[in-house]
Formats: sequence, C-alpha cells, structure tokens
Amino acid sequence: MEVNFADRMKIVKPSAIRELLQFGANPEIISFAGGYPDPNLFPVEQLRGIFQSAISENGRNVLQYTLSNGLPRLREQLAEKMKREGTACTADEVLILQGAQQGLDLVAKMLINAGDLIITENPTFLGALIAFNPFEPRYKTVPIDENGMVVDELEELLKTTPRAKLLYTTPDFHNPTGVTLSLERRKKLLQLATKYDLIILEDSPYRDLRYQGEQVPSIKSMDTEGRVIYLGSFSKILAPALRIGWAVASKKIVESLGLLKLAADTQTSTLNMFAVSTFLDKCDFDALLLSIRNTYRHKKALMLDTMRGEFPQEVAFTDPNGGLFTWLTFSPGFNAGEFLREKALPLAKVAYVPGATFYPVVQEPNHARMSYSLQSDEQLVEGISRLGEVLRKTGSL
Ligand SMILES: Cc1ncc(COP(=O)(O)O)c(C=O)c1O
Repeated sequence: MEVNFADRMKIVKPSAIRELLQFGANPEIISFAGGYPDPNLFPVEQLRGIFQSAISENGRNVLQYTLSNGLPRLREQLAEKMKREGTACTADEVLILQGAQQGLDLVAKMLINAGDLIITENPTFLGALIAFNPFEPRYKTVPIDENGMVVDELEELLKTTPRAKLLYTTPDFHNPTGVTLSLERRKKLLQLATKYDLIILEDSPYRDLRYQGEQVPSIKSMDTEGRVIYLGSFSKILAPALRIGWAVASKKIVESLGLLKLAADTQTSTLNMFAVSTFLDKCDFDALLLSIRNTYRHKKALMLDTMRGEFPQEVAFTDPNGGLFTWLTFSPGFNAGEFLREKALPLAKVAYVPGATFYPVVQEPNHARMSYSLQSDEQLVEGISRLGEVLRKTGSL
C-alpha cells in the first residue's frame, strides 16, 4: 500500500551515520561514537533500593498518573538546584521533560512555522536538528572556536538576515566539539538576543560534568526578560534510561510547553520522577557528581595523551574542560566518513562519528567526534592506538 505521508516526512530521514554505525555492533569494534555515559557510574544499588521501596511502600501512588508538568516536589527540587547554581527560578518555571530531547521537540513545536529561521552553532548537536527538522525551519549558522560560538559573527549575521526566531546553543561542553562559551560571549549573546528579539534555547545537559576550570554562569541566570529557555537532564548524571530532563523558562512559556507535553505524552513516568526526587532527597548527589567528574577527567586525559602519542601531527583535537567529547580536525581534503567506512572500521576496528553530520547547512568532511566516556582504560588506549596506526599508515590524507 502507498502511504500518503504528510509533506514534513520528506525531511524526516534516517541519518547516514546510523547505517554506518551498525557495523559497531560487531564486538571486535571499539566504539568512540555514541554519547553514552559510563554505565559503571550509574548508582545502581541506590536506585534499586529506591525503586523497590517506592513500589512496596508507595506503589498505589507512584504507579498512578500525575500532573503533566511533573511531580511538584521534583519541580521544587530542581528550582532549588538551579538557584543554588546561580539561576534563580521558581517551581512553576520548571517543567519536567522526557529527557532534554523532548524539550528540543516541544520548543520547536511551540515556536517554529515552516520557513522560520533557526540559528545554530556550526557544527551543532545532531539530535537538535532531528527534533527541529519536522517543523521545516531554515538554518543559518555561526562558527565556533575554543571559546564557543563566535558571537561577533552572530552580530554580523543578525545585521544582514531577516528576523530569526530562535537561537539554539549548547554553551557548556558543546556536543560535538566539547568547547565552552566564555562569560563575555554569553553576555554579548544575551544583548544581541534582546536587540534582535531572539529566543535563546540554552541546551545544557553536560553542565554538571565540569571536571576542570571555573564554572561559567548559565545564560539563563543573566536573563531578565524571560527570553532564555534552559534545558537540563539527568541522563549524564544519573542514568539516561530514566528519561528525566527539565526546562526552565518564564511561566508563560512553561504553560505553553506544558500544553504541548500533555498532547505528546500526557506526563513523564510518575515512578521515575519519584525515584529521581527520592535520590535528590536521600542520597549524596555531590559524591556521585565527584566520582563522575573524576572518571571523565581521567578518561579525557588518557584519550588525549594517547592521541598525542599515536596520531599523526596534523590531526588536531579539542581539549575540553568537561562533558564527554573531543572534536578532531584532519587536514583539508580528508573525508572522515569515507575513512570510517574504508579504513577505521574494517582495518582498525574502531568507530567514531564523522563530523559532516553535525553541520546544518554546509558539511565539512574533515572532522570527527570521539567520545571518551564509554570505553575502559584498556579499550580506550587499544582503540586509539589501532586508529593511530591506520592513520599513520594511510596518512591522514
Ligand atoms: C546537546 C544535547 N542535548 C540534548 C540531549 C538529549 O539528552 P536526553 O537524554 O536528556 O534526552 C543530548 C544527548 O546526548 C545532547 O548531547
């Protein structure tokens, strides 16, 4: 039967890397591709106890429907967490989400008409493009350097382009590059947003993963007009399968997003919200964060040190202060997608994400995203050494 799909399905396509990464299912392959957190950091025992007692002592409540904007206690706890970290907000400015990913979808659904302009960093998070695309936006991009989005270039863009609707940014330990937006640029970004009447979507699921250097205030913390929508997530600091994220925005925006959430999924799992809330109340979250940060600081250093020893000189990579990713830049003319298919997977038995997929408009083929979070120390050294050997033999092209 011919299915008469809506027009928007023309731009909803499986990404090319998905097919490529199926090779990664081979147990011989060491994958640096996914953005998976290290499962050894999941607080399994604590969560087992919490889920067990939630069901045995409180089962008739935690298995029931609840308010679509989220459990009131968890909203309060998140408002307190945000306040402690410098972003003042109240519980009714917090919306609980099915992961930060749902925030990307709902914000686009709330704001974007077909043809509206979204500005992103170049490159940007692929999952955001996947969420935005069904709403048929146009994209303009702003380059990124070691201090995040080059805000002066944003200013040039805003001077010359018709009114943009939304600016999407991942200011803390950016996915895919790992870089962090400087304080000075955050301030300037907010000024520009006010001048050109932009909504900023500040997507910050890695914010708690700073393992070196000083934390930079969130853009939301400097927002006096309600023009910033902040997204946070427990995926990288508790466990992604809980599917718990949150948005912080003005009451008016939270209300609208809440209506869309109700239509999309009625609510986030009562049981999972209760579990996270109990974890925050009863467990030592700071101790968990400390061990997460220590682990990723160590793994990042190990990956970068091994790359320095094993990769050809001309391969450059970012040195992040937090998060899960480093971004590789090869010589111009190198095609990281082709190299993955023809050399890295079959010869080195190593996977990474070719960088081209992170560009909304003009793809740059000479980059790759590598994640240091998932593999053990031994696998990490082994994988980087194998990739280095193939790069050295075949040249980084
Ligand atoms: C920048 C960014 N935003 C959002 C998400 C979605 O996270 P969640 O698991 O909370 O839906 C991710 C996940 O990797 C991400 O890297």
